[in-house]
Amino acid sequence: MKRPSVRIDIITVLPELLNGPFSHSIVKRAIDKGLAEIYLHNLRDFSTDKHRSVDDYPYGGEPGMVMGIEPIERAIQSLTSERSYDEIIFTTPDAPTYNQKTANRLSTLENIIILCGHYKGVDQRVRDHLVTMELSIGDYVLSGGEIAAAVITDSIIRLLPGAISDTVSALSDSYQDNLLSPPVYTRPANFKGWKVPEILLSGHAAKIDEWKHRKALEKTKKLRPDLLEDEK
Ligand code: ADE
Repeated sequence: MKRPSVRIDIITVLPELLNGPFSHSIVKRAIDKGLAEIYLHNLRDFSTDKHRSVDDYPYGGEPGMVMGIEPIERAIQSLTSERSYDEIIFTTPDAPTYNQKTANRLSTLENIIILCGHYKGVDQRVRDHLVTMELSIGDYVLSGGEIAAAVITDSIIRLLPGAISDTVSALSDSYQDNLLSPPVYTRPANFKGWKVPEILLSGHAAKIDEWKHRKALEKTKKLRPDLLEDEK
């Protein structure tokens, strides 16, 4: 049975920032093939303020501005009144870290909202009552949650069946089995004396697979031993 397309609605104060990442390559092709739909919503369109503002000073006198609950609630309400959503994700650095396991799960859903964090943060009541999930894409702070939303969206869409011509290739990506990918080579077999490992030219499929697995394990042990710990 054909999988229904995934619909991702992104609520942001900077929709312009997100046009680029979705207009090329795998994501664009997936949209063109009808596997995915992405809609950008400008949070300012849901402000009732004459300056279209969506932030305000924090209670308690902290420096910086805070995104208010009202425009966010209206934006989310306008979407949830049309269809039900499987997850409403808030992108913020102070959240659990996004990983391939979460990407795999999200890629099985049909309707997802991503709310992009900004400024000093968002009124806690949004986090307590309106979103269903919070995600950080890593232990560093971006200027806003848009790039995080682009990362999450891209990683979901490339997993959709048919998004990548070679379906095996998404499954053999780094992290799918808690291993980094083994090294890959293409022609020429010898570049100024730097040679492609002999085994890859041998045509012996089983031995090549065994070599790839060994290399993936060596690389993971060296660069990301924590991934092997996670296995236990
Ligand atoms: N917004 C700012 N930094 C972020 C991060 N690391 N992940 C998700 N959203 C963010």
